[in-house]
Amino acid sequence: EKGGYEWFMLKEIAEQPQAVADTLLGRHGRDGLLQLDEMRLSDDELRNVDKIVAIACGTSYYAAMVAKYAIEHWTRIPVEVELASEFRYRDPILDKTTLVVTISQSGETADTIEAIRYARQQRARVLSICNTNGSTIPRESDAVIYTHAGPEVAVASTKGFLSQLVACYLLGLYLAQVKGVKYGDEIARIIADLEGVPAGIQRMLDDGDEIRKVARDLAGSRSILFLGRHVGYPVALEGALKLKELAYIHAEGFSAGELKHGPIAVIEEGLPVFVVVPPKGRDLLQKKIVSNIQEVRARGARTIVLVEDGDDDVVPYADHLIRLPRLPTLLQPLVATVPLQIFACEFAAQLGHDVDQPRNLAKSVTVE
Ligand code: M6R
Repeated sequence: EKGGYEWFMLKEIAEQPQAVADTLLGRHGRDGLLQLDEMRLSDDELRNVDKIVAIACGTSYYAAMVAKYAIEHWTRIPVEVELASEFRYRDPILDKTTLVVTISQSGETADTIEAIRYARQQRARVLSICNTNGSTIPRESDAVIYTHAGPEVAVASTKGFLSQLVACYLLGLYLAQVKGVKYGDEIARIIADLEGVPAGIQRMLDDGDEIRKVARDLAGSRSILFLGRHVGYPVALEGALKLKELAYIHAEGFSAGELKHGPIAVIEEGLPVFVVVPPKGRDLLQKKIVSNIQEVRARGARTIVLVEDGDDDVVPYADHLIRLPRLPTLLQPLVATVPLQIFACEFAAQLGHDVDQPRNLAKSVTVE
């Protein structure tokens, strides 16, 4: 059942090109327009949406964070991102023009289910992104986008996450299409780029030996930091969560821009720091993060830098370099997450932990 892999997690990491391809499958009509079959909300209802609140827990929450960057950029609809466990306890402002988007692999997460019930009582529309057909979350929602990752067995979510990202991108592009905003060349290009992503993920898998070697080199570390910006920030958070879950060590993700507002104080000689570098673009983020890498390195950090092909600016400051296929910034999480998953898995295996069933955790968290 593990298909020759030592752990379900490894099998599920390896299935990611397929999970992404399957989640994209059949969304693209002959007319070049996107179609989301299970989208039970009419175009008119969607055109009336003036605010989106994206709600989830754990790894799915990081997918929601990425969704904010993408949906706001493509649609200009404001997106709030909220932990399901916080949402209904703070008297949120919702009405019938609010679209609540919940994201859940299992479809049975109690915090998220309660958030949906609360949102619907407040007359908001609820659209769920979910990997489990017929589970409670899609049953209680007004609309669904199913991810097609297949069953995820390992407690640590991997292919579930990447397929959630794809569903979030599809939702953003679809809303842009319905609203008629910015549905120009950029969006057509993004769809073409998405179709190339499974091959990019496959390349990250084929290159996995490099990051496994880094994991073996760092296996004695008691603390590891992850830095990112823009959509690389949720990727950093995800890298840290995977490591906490599987290796039981201190791991923390930061927005690189926050470094000098506090976290840089913890940098000391030999501390491993992962950095996700945004693609070189017009927005100067890449330059800013290169100087962040210099700052942590000057204080003794050991840097593991994830950077796109052809960007050599970081080479002098990287103790380990992991190359990523070139993609638009918004899509980079689909490839940048993969080495962080492989790292956490190998690191935990080195420590002799049960990678699939980490201590204290359950696959579905069915109590609040
Ligand atoms: O099934 P869900 O997506 O609703 O689960 C949410 C979280 O419990 C889940 O992502 C958890 O954080 C994973 N163990 C992460 O690897």
